[in-house]
Amino acid sequence: MNVSEYHGALRRAHWELLLDADPWFEAVLAYTPPQLPEARLFTIGNEKKPYAMCVVIPIEGGFEIKNIATQIIMRRQGMASALINHVVDWARGQGAEMVEIGTATTGHQQIRLYQKLGFKKDGILRGYFAQYPEPIIENGQLVRDMVMLRMKL
Ligand SMILES: CC(C)(COP(=O)(O)OP(=O)(O)OC[C@H]1O[C@@H](n2cnc3c(N)ncnc32)[C@H](O)[C@@H]1OP(=O)(O)O)[C@@H](O)C(=O)NCCC(=O)NCCS
Repeated sequence: MNVSEYHGALRRAHWELLLDADPWFEAVLAYTPPQLPEARLFTIGNEKKPYAMCVVIPIEGGFEIKNIATQIIMRRQGMASALINHVVDWARGQGAEMVEIGTATTGHQQIRLYQKLGFKKDGILRGYFAQYPEPIIENGQLVRDMVMLRMKL
């Protein structure tokens, strides 16, 4: 599956994916270009209207996948896995020691996917989603905490 890096401005199709993964618009603005110029965008499909995309930001010792989403009709075909594997290889090439990814503790499918790809649970950010302007319900549960998963490279 071909993953490419997107250097252009964020368009509507990107925003639909970004807000699907993270509904707090201001937070997403703060970790994407131009507000965060060092953030990198990786896409699958037409880079201006991708099937799947993720946002990667530098953190101490490596990189964090801050946002990842696949269009609903394109899910379960390995696109998120391909993006994550690509980012891991890319991060290794950058000399990173680790890659992190966080998700709601209620996101069982996401957690299982990340573990399948080699990430291990590394801590819980209690109350992380309490700062969100609107409550988030996932799998019938109010989302409160974020679990961080880490892959050592
Ligand atoms: C989470 C998300 C990004 C996964 O995207 P995806 O492209 O469907 O991911 P993949 O296809 O790589 O993997 C999903 C599942 O499909 C399975 N799969 C992968 N390729 C497959 C194929 N060819 N046939 C059948 N199943 C397949 C994977 O094994 C995985 O299974 P699991 O649920 O048992 O772990 C997507 O569901 C999404 O966009 N959700 C909304 C946004 C979101 O929650 N983002 C994450 C926030 S942290």
